[in-house]
This record gives sequence, C-alpha cells and structure tokens, in this order.
Amino acid sequence: MSDANKAIEYARANRERFIKELIEFVKIESISTNDDFKLQLVNAAEWAAAHLRKIGIENVSLMDTGGHPIVYGDLLKKPNAPTVLIYGHYDVQPIDPIELWETPPFDATVKGDYIFARGTSDMKGQMMATLNAVESVMKTGDFPINLKFLLEGEEEIGSQNMEAFLHKHADMLKSDFCLNPDAGAISADEPTITFGLRGLAYFEIHINGPAQDLHSGLFGGAVHNPAQALTELIAAMHDANGTITLPNFYDSVRPVTDKEREETAKLPTTAESYLQQTGAPALWGEKEYTPALRTGARPTLEVNGLLSGWTGAGAKTVLPAKAMAKISCRLVPDQSPAEVHRQLVKFMEMNAPKTITWEVKALHESPWAITDVNTNGIRALAAAMETVWGRQPLYRREGGSIGVVAMLQNICGVESGLVGGSLPDDNIHSPNERMHLPTWYKNIDAFIHFFFNMK
Ligand code: BES
Ligand code: MN
Repeated sequence: MSDANKAIEYARANRERFIKELIEFVKIESISTNDDFKLQLVNAAEWAAAHLRKIGIENVSLMDTGGHPIVYGDLLKKPNAPTVLIYGHYDVQPIDPIELWETPPFDATVKGDYIFARGTSDMKGQMMATLNAVESVMKTGDFPINLKFLLEGEEEIGSQNMEAFLHKHADMLKSDFCLNPDAGAISADEPTITFGLRGLAYFEIHINGPAQDLHSGLFGGAVHNPAQALTELIAAMHDANGTITLPNFYDSVRPVTDKEREETAKLPTTAESYLQQTGAPALWGEKEYTPALRTGARPTLEVNGLLSGWTGAGAKTVLPAKAMAKISCRLVPDQSPAEVHRQLVKFMEMNAPKTITWEVKALHESPWAITDVNTNGIRALAAAMETVWGRQPLYRREGGSIGVVAMLQNICGVESGLVGGSLPDDNIHSPNERMHLPTWYKNIDAFIHFFFNMK
C-alpha cells in the first residue's frame, strides 16, 4: 500500500474521533467581532495549540499580536524538501439572529450528512481537516515535507494585526507555498481552486437630526427625519442598473477581459444556481455582467445593517434623532480601501442635505488578492483533488475576502492555494451554519495526497 493510502486508511478509521474533536473545538465561542469574547478567543487559540502539540507538531506557541493571539507551530525534519505553511482562523462570526437557529449554535448537532454549528464550515472544520490529514500522515510514516502553521483569531475582523506580524516574523514564516482551506468549493461534486478574492472596506454612516427624539405629530413635516435622510442617501448610492454612484468609484477597477468572460461562462455557477442557493425571488445587479462575474470580478456596495427609531413591538409615533447604517464595499483589483473611504466621504459631501449632520467611520478593511495558479503548490493540489474526486478542479474567482492571502504575497512572497470544503449552501455567517461531512472526508484525503505530491 502507498504511504498516502496508509494515511487515508488511518483517517477513515479515525473519523468518529475527528468529529468529536471538531465538536469540542466549535464549543468555544470565539466570536472576534465582539470584544466581550476576548477570553474565548484565547481559549480557542489554546485549544488549537494543544491539538498541534498532541499530534506531534513542534515549537508550538501562542504569539502576541496586540489583538487575538496567533498560533505558530512547525515540523522541520526534511532539509531538502519544500515547506508548506498551513493557514487557518479559529475565530467565528456572531450568531445573531439567534432565534433562527434550529439547533444550539455552539453545541454541534450531527444530522445525516451534515454537522451544524457556528464555525463548522467557516472554518474550524476546514482547519481540522488539514490537521486531521497531517496527523494521519504523521501516525503512519515519515512526514514527506516540512510544515509551518499560522492560525489566527482575527480573520473575521479583517486580520488587522496580521500585516505587522508578518513583517516582524517573515523569516520564521518563510515557506514555499501556503495551503489555505478557507475558500470553499462550488459544490460537493465540483472540486474548486479559487484564484481571486475580493477585498473589503467597511464603514458606519451616522446621521444626526434634532437634538432628541421628537413627537412625530408635533414636529413631523417640519423636521427632516434622519432615518429618511439616511435611506435617501443610501438609495442614491446605486443607479437603476445596480451600478455604484460614488464619485470615481470605477476608476481603478480592472475591466473584465473577454477571456475571463468566456472562462467564467463555462463554470456551473449560473443565474439558476444563484437563485436556487439564495431563495431570492429574482436576481439583481449590473446587467452587463453574469452573476458569477458580479460576485467575483466586480465591486459592490452593500447595506449590512440599519438602525433607527422604533423597531420594538407595537406602534410608537416617533421622529428619531439619529440613524445609522453599516455599509461595506467588496473591492476588486486595483481598488484600495482608502480610496473608497475618500469616495464615500465625497459622496456624502456632495449629497447630504443641510437638514442633518453626518459622520463616516471606517471600521475594518481587507485587501483583494489574485493568486498565481502556475506554481508547484497549485499543481500538487490540483493533482490531489483529481485523485480524490476523479475530475480536475474548476478555477474561479470568489466574492469573499481573506486578508492574509495578499499580505503573504506582498510581505513574504508566498503564494496560497485557496481550497476548502465550505459549500455555498452551508449558511456561513448565517443561522444554521453547517458543514457537509462527505466533502470534509474528501478534503482530508485530498490534503494527504497533496503533502505527498509536494515532496
Ligand atoms: N471563509 C470566508 C471567506 C470566503 C468564503 C472565501 C467563501 C471564499 C468562499 C472568510 O472567513 C470570511 O468570511 N471573510 C470575511 C472577511 C472580512 C470580514 C474582512 C468576509 O469575506 O466577509
Ligand atoms: Mn467567514
């Protein structure tokens, strides 16, 4: 039996324990977007570090970043073999709206082919798939290559301390390739390599009107309602075609080439698949682009949340004093978060009425990335996926963001292989997040093949 098959057999025999370990890991409420959970983030980092030590990884430590710790570890036994950096994030998104969860968000439930809990698909489950693969190879023979681990707790808040960390520890992290399983796949039967990620720029817009909430009968009609002023402004941020109207917004957007149009048209991500996955009554957006191009290659401006006035039960006749919107833009090459910030401020200067005052606050940001698919790492991954799925992977650009990818390129000169078992209907960032177990098992097998292919 080949070394890879020995490891695969070990992984199969240990599936039940792997699931138990994942259930322990997702129990830790490591929500990075909320400072009240700081301790849980440290607990999740400690858990991951303990697991690395348990499977035999060396030099494991929690490293200070100024924010949530980074877990480092390595296995450097093969001076003549390449070094693969394994990336993961142990932080998760909030669980709101909590009443829509059908099973407890942090007490995982296995039902049929799925495991349900926050962080299963995005991405504690994906991280564990790589660690399970590493363990399976280590326990059945000699590890064929060198490994380094970079596990962070701030991915869901824009990896804000990662850049400084990479600058400081560039030597320690020196590697030939990064395996990043945070990018997901088109479907369970369609192994996928992602070569493009969008960036992000996240803002709050605060609108202030009267000095305090007013009786809407006494003052309605004479005072501009801040909720109305805010929604008027938001409505003006797109035209009827869904094109964004911030001044100069598209100036640095790289045009979609004919070749990319053709390649994207061949993917199974069709208008029908978007309709089916989202349950929306109809699709929306720039009609000159297909949905796959709109999410992969075009920038967006999205309202993530609105806050104003009376939203409790029953009726309250109030003219609210303030309104707030959370707005974020997904960015594509060659846009920068700073330029979009300036454009949003300019838009407000040009369009905000005299009846209110306003403030734009920049929250977090994340750079876009385009990865090089012409590398040994990608060839090793593609071959591994073909072995497991029996078909070549599809290559796509993805609409989500993973900050570390561009940072690793720019600071450490390391290219990433963006893969993973997260599927479009896994409800990531939503209630009832789940992970597809058959795909998880396949990814464990694929990672095992990948390690041997890299030798
Ligand atoms: N894993 C996701 C990103 C993703 C999802 C990439 C599906 C490809 C396919 C990641 O954890 C994520 O959600 N990132 C955030 C980052 C942001 C807060 C800076 C995102 O994209 O919203
Ligand atoms: Mn996420």
